Amino acid sequence: MRVADAFRAAYGTSPQTVWHAPGRVNLIGEHTDYNDGFVLPFAVPWGVSAAVTPRTDKTVRLLSLQGHSEPVTIASHEESTGWTRYVVGVLAMLGDRVAGADIAIDGTIPAGAGLSSSAALEVSVASALNDLHELGMTPMEIALLSQKAENGFVGVPSGILDQAASALCQEGHALFLDCRSLASRTIPLDLASHGMSILIIDTQVHHEHSGGEYAKRRAECESAARKLGVPALRDVTDLAAALDRLQGDERKRTMHVVTENHRVEALIGLLRAGAVTEIGALLNASHLSLRDQYEVSSPELDVAVEAAVKGGARGARMTGGGFGGSAIALVADDRLESVRQSVVDAYAERGFQPPRFLPATPAPGAHRLA
Ligand code: GLA
Repeated sequence: MRVADAFRAAYGTSPQTVWHAPGRVNLIGEHTDYNDGFVLPFAVPWGVSAAVTPRTDKTVRLLSLQGHSEPVTIASHEESTGWTRYVVGVLAMLGDRVAGADIAIDGTIPAGAGLSSSAALEVSVASALNDLHELGMTPMEIALLSQKAENGFVGVPSGILDQAASALCQEGHALFLDCRSLASRTIPLDLASHGMSILIIDTQVHHEHSGGEYAKRRAECESAARKLGVPALRDVTDLAAALDRLQGDERKRTMHVVTENHRVEALIGLLRAGAVTEIGALLNASHLSLRDQYEVSSPELDVAVEAAVKGGARGARMTGGGFGGSAIALVADDRLESVRQSVVDAYAERGFQPPRFLPATPAPGAHRLA
């Protein structure tokens, strides 16, 4: 195994364990997690493998196969910078339960595609440490700890979607998660038997202001919930009455969150009924809502979605936080080529840099490799 070999070359011994945690795409349920709502992600076949051996002192040594050839040595948590903060954040959140560690990391998630490489990094390291120190954390506890590292240590105010997907997903299934109760259920997602695939269209563009806009959307949702006198937008039942009491952006954000939660439930109903091709309409509706009500799309995402549908996709939408990253399209296998061509042509026409296409089959969540 590549990551174990790199570990041995760097530290002179074999790692005590190796864990893999995947990235994700979210089938539907976008910007609902921090509104106590519903999400439906599945894990992708790419992720992060972490080879780990605990140390008795507090030092953390970190080697990335995608970075410098020498490990970085971090003597105290405050010293960490850049990507190492995601790893050190996990150790910081574990507190006295762990000391330092020697770690090698191998990531296969295409960089910048918006497929949650940071969550995969956190969950792979947290899972390995949980195993080595026999901490007895459940996959959901690992997800929550990883989210806490990202919120409290790295300083990104993300919800639980990415980490839960990475820790809990199962092969061939999507994960239905209630982000309030944290109850989850796996839902079979066998597209191949219907002659269908999910195609990831990576725009290869990421807009700089996304962090600030994300925090702004969260604040708008919290303010709308306060005005409506509910704990979270999840609790809005009479949408028309709620919209009457709100204005401007808060009105639009509420419209998105409430309808998106209903779309998650509708999509699960269709999957249960075996009506896979019918979910396309919900993907399209989700995209329009994210574009027009939540205002987190981008020209590249919109063109990818429109061109995919024009090329024969049953439906398409942006996936993840937005402002760049990837879109997903539900495509009958015999239309894959025409969908790809349609997107390539539309990008060329607008002078966008060419997108990257990745096939997405639902992969397993975090698991031990060695
Ligand atoms: C990002 C965040 C998630 C979630 C999505 C939007 O990926 O990390 O918690 O809020 O955006 O659904």
